[in-house]
Amino acid sequence: MEWEKKFLNKIICGDVVKTMGQIPNNLVDLVITSPPYNIRNSTGNGLKNGRGGKWANAGLQKGYSHYDDCMPHDKYVKWQRDCLKEMMRIIPEHGAIFYNHKWRVQGGLLQDRQDIVSGFPVRQIIIWKRKGGLNFNPGYFLPTYEVIYLIAKPEFKLIPKANAYGDIWEFTQEMNNEHPAAFPVDLIDRIVSATDAKVILDPFMGSGTTAISALNFKRDYIGIDISPEYCEMARKRIKNHSPGSNFFQFQLPQERLFKTP
Ligand SMILES: C[S@@+](CC[C@H](N)C(=O)[O-])C[C@H]1O[C@@H](n2cnc3c(N)ncnc32)[C@H](O)[C@@H]1O
Repeated sequence: MEWEKKFLNKIICGDVVKTMGQIPNNLVDLVITSPPYNIRNSTGNGLKNGRGGKWANAGLQKGYSHYDDCMPHDKYVKWQRDCLKEMMRIIPEHGAIFYNHKWRVQGGLLQDRQDIVSGFPVRQIIIWKRKGGLNFNPGYFLPTYEVIYLIAKPEFKLIPKANAYGDIWEFTQEMNNEHPAAFPVDLIDRIVSATDAKVILDPFMGSGTTAISALNFKRDYIGIDISPEYCEMARKRIKNHSPGSNFFQFQLPQERLFKTP
């Protein structure tokens, strides 16, 4: 089919909203993504004053290769809501979106991103506990987690027993990736392996982590990114990856299953 030739198992270099706009309704089972966080429009934190420390994404002080990550807040919120609307359009009734974001303190008050997700069918907020953080500030405790919104259409279901992972996940952030804000593969492996989605889209694909994870579990991927540099990084990574390498090893860890009373 025409759309498959154009999108399936491809990394497409283009704008997120425009490119998703070309994907027909209902054809993507699952979206896993992490947008730019608008970090450079911050009112001030560890990133702004240069105290990025040892973490790989301290590089975000300069933004991404082809996007400065510094929009007026209202414009940013509208952009992200436009992205979510497109994601909702292309997933079917059994589809879902795992939308990673980070809460932060702005002008002394918590910015919890409710303005972005309000009105979308948020079913759960998963806490991604990272090791350490960047935003040292004497006014509040060091933030050590990000959130993953599970935004789900009515018929979305996890595979049997995957719910036992609970809603607080601990994964060290990725530090061996030239991309300044890459997902750790294990985090995405957990999401992919917890569903039976066949076609998985990451509309902010960056270095290609979601595609690698899709390949690990023999699923199809679609990747979009504005940066030709990151698209090339993703294509190389995919080319050098042995497909299905996690497929037989990955099992739900029985010892971590919560016992229901
Ligand atoms: C947080 S990063 C995603 C990293 C990715 N999860 C990974 O594992 O490498 C956000 C990405 O959004 C991309 N981006 C920014 N503006 C965009 C736009 N208008 N359209 C598509 N991609 C965009 C950036 O180039 C960046 O790679």
